[in-house]
Amino acid sequence: PFMLALHRSGRQVQVAAGRTALACLQEAGVELDCSCEVGVCGTCRTAVLEGTPHHFDSVLSDEERQANNCFMPCVSRALTPVLVLDL
Ligand code: FES
Repeated sequence: PFMLALHRSGRQVQVAAGRTALACLQEAGVELDCSCEVGVCGTCRTAVLEGTPHHFDSVLSDEERQANNCFMPCVSRALTPVLVLDL
């Protein structure tokens, strides 16, 4: 499990094991565009301000992964306890 801290709204959303960050954000009422929901389209790309994403998408290049400044919440998770998102 990990926590998403939403920078703009000041809200926090917990992501339990076995749930996607996208589903938890949507459940919390956050409107995010999404399409494939399997990490291939890039539609749900979300800016990460702090923390380290654990990337499971097939969209980002190695350079983009290492930059740690965005992730695909439909499949990707976190290596740090908290990800601060620009939401
Ligand atoms: Fe397609 Fe997340 S919805 S990459």
